[in-house]
Amino acid sequence: MNKKISDLIEYRFGAPTRVGNQMPAEGPLASILERRTHRQYSEQKVDDELLEILIACGLSASSKSDLQQASVIIVDDPATRALIGSWIPSMPWITQAPRFLVFCGDHSRIRIAAEMRNKPFPNDNVDQFMNAAVDAGLVMQAFTMAAESVGLGCCPISEIRSNIEALSALLELPDLVFPIAGLCVGYPAREGFVSMRLPQSLTVHHNRYETSDREEKIDAYDRRRDERFSIPEANQRNKKEYGIADFYGWSEDKTRQYSTPHRAGFLAYLKARGFAML
Ligand SMILES: Cc1cc2nc3c(=O)[nH]c(=O)nc-3n(C[C@H](O)[C@H](O)[C@H](O)COP(=O)(O)O)c2cc1C
Repeated sequence: MNKKISDLIEYRFGAPTRVGNQMPAEGPLASILERRTHRQYSEQKVDDELLEILIACGLSASSKSDLQQASVIIVDDPATRALIGSWIPSMPWITQAPRFLVFCGDHSRIRIAAEMRNKPFPNDNVDQFMNAAVDAGLVMQAFTMAAESVGLGCCPISEIRSNIEALSALLELPDLVFPIAGLCVGYPAREGFVSMRLPQSLTVHHNRYETSDREEKIDAYDRRRDERFSIPEANQRNKKEYGIADFYGWSEDKTRQYSTPHRAGFLAYLKARGFAML
């Protein structure tokens, strides 16, 4: 039987659907439904021209008020990449990927333009920070979709923000420019896997936000996901604090992960880089 779009949606969410059951599983919709993060890459190089094309695609993403508050740093210098990789030894794909980029929110240009055009800028608030962060995320996602369309695989790396001061100094980021994530890019060495998403009964709402049965829905998702890929005992996090769980699902994993402070200094970093965050 030829696969249909409905099969891909079923696989993505782990629940039956009739949606898309008349559409063949092909073309851009199928690629998006089957997308996955890739952390292992073949030796094949990603040449400069292709990278430039993909970055042009990334920068074609829509942009809040046309402010275009994203910048991309291509990290080609082996020593620079090795240093970034050395900060995050648990993610060897940072140094192994054929190409590595850093996507940044960039609020600096509009401030330079305000000075050039002798205008006040009474908007140095959290909303402006968020606009730049969203723009950079959209550029990274547009880049990723373009890369996947030509057979490449990517892995975003927000872990670079765990060394954000050192990284900013290394990349000589000026004030009002902050990294949102790195991105490993290369031709996949493995097929990878489609990771199951939360049910749309939790993530999609009609006319008003639905809050009913959220605990039950999360619990059921944990079980569905575990049936497909159970997390091995060795990969259970924070065993010292929480012991070994008999059932270790997505919510146990994510809550263990976020039961300790992560990057608590981020606001201080942003303020030191010139964001007033009013
Ligand atoms: C903003 C962002 C930051 C991420 N940071 C990392 C990271 O630091 N290291 C890593 O290995 N994967 C990272 N990922 C990949 C996620 O772990 C991955 O997207 C998630 O597990 C879902 O899997 P999927 O993309 O295959 O559906 C990141 C993804 C996003 C969107």
